[in-house]
Formats: sequence, structure tokens, C-alpha cells
Amino acid sequence: MTRVLGIETSCDETAAAVVSLEAGRGEILSSVVLSQIAEHEAFGGVVPEIAARAHVETLDGVVAAALADAGLRLADIDAIAATAGPGLIGGLIVGVMTAKALAAAAGKKLVAINHLEGHALTARLTDGLDFPYLLLLVSGGHTQIVLVRGVGRYERWATTIDDALGEAFDKTAKLLGLPYPGGPSVEKAARRGNASRFELPRPLKGEETLDFSFSGLKTAVRLAAKALEPLADRDVEDICASFQRAVSDTLADRLGRSLERFRAEFPDIVVPPLVVAGGVAANAEIRSTLMELCRQTGFRFVAPPMELCTDNAVMIAWAGLERLRAGMASENALDMAPRPRWPLDENAAPALGSGRRGAKV
Ligand code: KG4
Ligand code: ZN
Repeated sequence: MTRVLGIETSCDETAAAVVSLEAGRGEILSSVVLSQIAEHEAFGGVVPEIAARAHVETLDGVVAAALADAGLRLADIDAIAATAGPGLIGGLIVGVMTAKALAAAAGKKLVAINHLEGHALTARLTDGLDFPYLLLLVSGGHTQIVLVRGVGRYERWATTIDDALGEAFDKTAKLLGLPYPGGPSVEKAARRGNASRFELPRPLKGEETLDFSFSGLKTAVRLAAKALEPLADRDVEDICASFQRAVSDTLADRLGRSLERFRAEFPDIVVPPLVVAGGVAANAEIRSTLMELCRQTGFRFVAPPMELCTDNAVMIAWAGLERLRAGMASENALDMAPRPRWPLDENAAPALGSGRRGAKV
């Protein structure tokens, strides 16, 4: 049995977890996620300096809690996996330095993990997927379609050419005066709203490209809100519902093209999986839209449970196990350095929203 302690500090969650691998099966032994929502709420988004300080103050306790919950001591762990990027530099330094110190003190292996790889591989832990599969990664800093060929073998098929989808949710919430974090607030308000009241655009709909765009949608939301000021609760709910519907439609349209491409490239896979991951994958309407798209196209819809879609350290520990199993973790990564920018597919052309995760303010 191999046990890995995972550490995640790349944005506004301080997280640690222990995951084991035995006879090819992964098991979550503990998962602690300390959200910094309260610290950032007054500012309407993540403030990097506050985030870094909060990680410094809490990470030791979070790691101790993850070990205690698993009923283990550091000595029982085989390796430590820490997010080395992409993300906010302050938090990354705290996580990487802590992991190095623990590894050096206890004589453990250290594995540097790309946060996006954590999101990309989670479905193999939760659903035992085989490679290859198609991944829609939708989070605060990214909106990408990635062909996952194997551990460390990622091919980016599409990316956003402007805003990430989570960012569009967060900005919409802020504009409408809804509390941070924006995604869950918009979803909650949308539940009571009328999705057909506002005609919002479906950016790039029907276009040849596989890419995404959300800035036009954001602008349309701003104009709709401005025209109605001051906004009643009803208006906010209707805008949220219309926005969420436009987002779901756009995702289904853009994704449809990638599903066709996957079919053409892998005709032998009868029911190929489509994996949805990242914070925005916690959205129920988006999930059900994509589930329906999969039903129509003969794909298998796979979405990790909500708590493993938003940032956590289970996915980092699991990515560490995957790398160890594949012989892709160096014996001693004490020279690992934080990488604020770190695209999953190093060969893909640089694009806004790929490999970049910044402050959400
Ligand atoms: O993956 P994640 O936790 O952090 C990043 O790696 O960025 O994603 C956070 C993003 C935020 O933009 C947040 O507003 C969004 O995911 N999000 C949601 C929901 N829950 C979180 N967006 C829409 N609906 C939700 N229920
Ligand atoms: Zn994330």
C-alpha cells in the first residue's frame, strides 16, 4: 500500500488530505479543506496577500488534522504531494516550503503537482476511468477542453479566448451585488428566476472553432442590469437564471464539436467518457445540461462529487499517487519551485485563461 499526503494552497482554500493506493484502488483516508471565504468576503474576491497570510497561519493545523483524521502519523506516509502551480505565488510558496520541510524532516519523497492535473485525474479515483478521456475543466481561472491521454499527457483542444467561466460567474455576481463567492450565489438566485426574460448572447455559437468566449456575455449582463437600475430581487434572479441558461447552452454547443472530434479520433471506444471538473462543475444546471448532451451523443457523463470538484487536497494526493505509480515522480523533488503559470499542455499555444490563475478580485 502507498499512502500520500496532499497539500493544496494555490488559491483561497488551505487543504490537506491523505489518499492510499492498494491493488490499483484509491481510497480517501481524510480530507480537510479550510475555506478563506470569511477573510475575503468584505473585498468581494480573493486578495492575494490575505490569502498567503491565511495559508501560513493555518496550513500546519490543517496538515495535522488530515493526518489525525486518517489515524496516521507522518512516519506512516510514503510521500508528500504539493501543488506547485499554477496559482497565486504567495500561497504556492507556503505549500511548497511546508511540503519540503515535512519531506526533509521525515525523509519522505516529494512530488510537485500541477493543480490542473489534480482536477484532470480526480475521475480516475472516483470512477476508475481508463485513458483516454475528454475533460472539460471549468474553474475560476480556466475553461479548457483537454484530451487526457495518460498521466502527464494532456492535449489542449480548446480554451477560453477571454474570461474563464468561473470568472464570468464571479463578475456577474459582483455586478449584481451578490455575495462572494459568485458561482454559488448566482446559482442560488437563478433557482427562483425566469431564464427566458433576458435574451443574452451565446458567444461563438455554431462557429467552427472549439474555443470558448464569455466576455460578450458578461457585457450583455452588465447592459441588462444597467437598463433596469435600481434592481429589484426579481430582476437579479431573472438575470442570474438567464445568464446560467446562456452559459449552459454555450457549453453544450462548444463541447458538441469536441465530442465529434473525439469520436473521429477514437472510433473504437464505444461509450467514451466526458469528465467535467473544476469549481464550476459543481453547478447543477450545467451538470444536467451536459448530462443531457452526453445522453444524446452516446458519451458517458462523469462528474466527481461536488466537494471534489471545488479545490481540495484529495486531488493533489491522488495525482501524486498516479505519478508515483507511473514512475514519474523524481526520488527527491527538494528543488521543486512554485510556478504561478504552468499550463497542462506545454505544447499548446499561449492563450489567456490557460495555465493562469490569478486573484479573483
Ligand atoms: O476549481 P475552483 O474551486 O478554483 C479554481 O481552481 O479556480 O473554482 C472556483 C470557481 C469560482 O469562480 C466559483 O465561483 C466557481 O468555481 N463555482 C461555481 C459554483 N461553485 C463554484 N460556479 C457556478 N456554480 C457553482 N455552484
Ligand atoms: Zn481548482
